[in-house]
Amino acid sequence: MPGSSSPADVLPNIANDLFKQPVAGLQALPPRATHPPRILVLYGSVRERSYSRLASEEAARLLQAMGAETRTFNPSGLPLPDDAPESHPKVQELRQLAEWSEGMVWCSPERHGAMTGIMKSQIDWIPLTSGAVRPTQGKTLAVMQVSGGSQSFNAVNQMRVLGRWMRMLTIPNQSSIAKAFLEFDEAGRMKPSAYYDRVVDVMEELVKFTLLTRDASSWLTDRYSERVESAEALSKRVNQKSI
Ligand SMILES: Cc1cc2nc3c(=O)[nH]c(=O)nc-3n(C[C@H](O)[C@H](O)[C@H](O)COP(=O)(O)O)c2cc1C
Repeated sequence: MPGSSSPADVLPNIANDLFKQPVAGLQALPPRATHPPRILVLYGSVRERSYSRLASEEAARLLQAMGAETRTFNPSGLPLPDDAPESHPKVQELRQLAEWSEGMVWCSPERHGAMTGIMKSQIDWIPLTSGAVRPTQGKTLAVMQVSGGSQSFNAVNQMRVLGRWMRMLTIPNQSSIAKAFLEFDEAGRMKPSAYYDRVVDVMEELVKFTLLTRDASSWLTDRYSERVESAEALSKRVNQKSI
């Protein structure tokens, strides 16, 4: 029955608490951090001349120009999910980068109308929960794809679903670079085009959303149902102790 087992204090008056009388358990939003937004860039190909990697490098350059700190994970050598222990150095590197980050860019090629297995494997190696740490929850996410054919959105749409699954705040804008082999010069830089301008738009939006949400991310992702669950678990433990 809804509410029957819910302690009243797990259902606060959010607007009242936030603006009039911050209470324990729902403190006023913390002061804004001033360090550069930390963005992890993931791409989904190990080809030598990979356009998703080149596009992700372009994104990282733009993010840095906008004041962010970026780190990029090279997926080469990452084992298939569950095909190696979690202690594998590439898995550890990926997980540490995920924990470090406050936002992410995922840039996958479209293959057979889908994101690549390389892209998905990286996400599958990042646990939703690791002890008390949730490496992706409440972090911002921008999705990008490159394709060999005409413009499509299959990979970005799938990554949006994946972002939701990882409890991330996926920003509205996104980038899809069609016929990617035409869009980069010999040196691997993206040529001026509407596609390039869109990448700039997306990175700008990512930086803004990250700056606005990073300090409040645990508050934004704090869930009523999980507060009820932990209140019930706590009262069970107290009851057990008193027996
Ligand atoms: C097996 C395979 C399947 C592909 N499927 C698609 C597809 O469904 N749609 C598309 O537009 N391009 C498709 N492509 C082209 C790739 O998206 C394109 O080569 C892209 O640049 C690959 O990314 P990368 O350069 O980062 O490796 C496919 C390529 C391969 C090898």
